[in-house]
Amino acid sequence: MPSNKMIVAITGASGAIYGAVLLAELLRRPVEVHLVVSDYGRKVMAHELGFTGPMLPFLESEFELVPHESSLLKEYSADNLFAPPASGSFRHAGMVIAPCSMKTLAAIAAGFADNLVVRAADVCLKEKRPLILLPRETPLSPIHLENMLKVARAGAVLHPPVPAFYHRPESVRDIVNATIGRVLDHLGISHDLAAEWSGD
Ligand SMILES: Cc1cc2nc3c(=O)[nH]c(=O)nc-3n(C[C@H](O)[C@H](O)[C@H](O)COP(=O)(O)O)c2cc1C
Repeated sequence: MPSNKMIVAITGASGAIYGAVLLAELLRRPVEVHLVVSDYGRKVMAHELGFTGPMLPFLESEFELVPHESSLLKEYSADNLFAPPASGSFRHAGMVIAPCSMKTLAAIAAGFADNLVVRAADVCLKEKRPLILLPRETPLSPIHLENMLKVARAGAVLHPPVPAFYHRPESVRDIVNATIGRVLDHLGISHDLAAEWSGD
């Protein structure tokens, strides 16, 4: 039976709302979410979303989350390399880094696993488990592009949060939902965040 455990990381790139919407969507389902927020992830989340923590009440009040009775949110400090996601023996269905900073991307590309976000991602690559990154920066330097190519070649899915307009979004939330919907598609999780393109 596939695991109901997912790892989610939020790092210090702009777009904390992507991480928040992803977490809220997962916790509406019978999913065990193992969360790591980097120091700058927390600071950018405070700046962009007014986040003060703890996470669950914040998602309930700001993202209309009503957690599934069988959901569970476990949060670890980014400097806790003893936490389960640091080990290949921890079975899970995949990891999403939303948003992913260029610093965290670089560390993953280099295999420089000195915090739990990078170590858990490194483990996904070596264990061939799904790893989805939402890298956010613009413009992109050759260093950023080479790092993206390296991690894509190692098996990660690069899913930059670049909006599409063919579904005619009317709000920021529509734009975010469309991206997170595609991330859930990759994880094989059904959702109603964005309609499937019918060609009409
Ligand atoms: C308000 C704010 C916005 C930022 N936006 C980005 C961004 O979009 N992309 C990026 O790569 N870094 C961005 N940064 C810089 C990262 O936060 C910084 O490189 C940090 O060291 C990333 O560390 P982390 O990956 O461990 O979270 C931003 C920083 C701040 C304060």
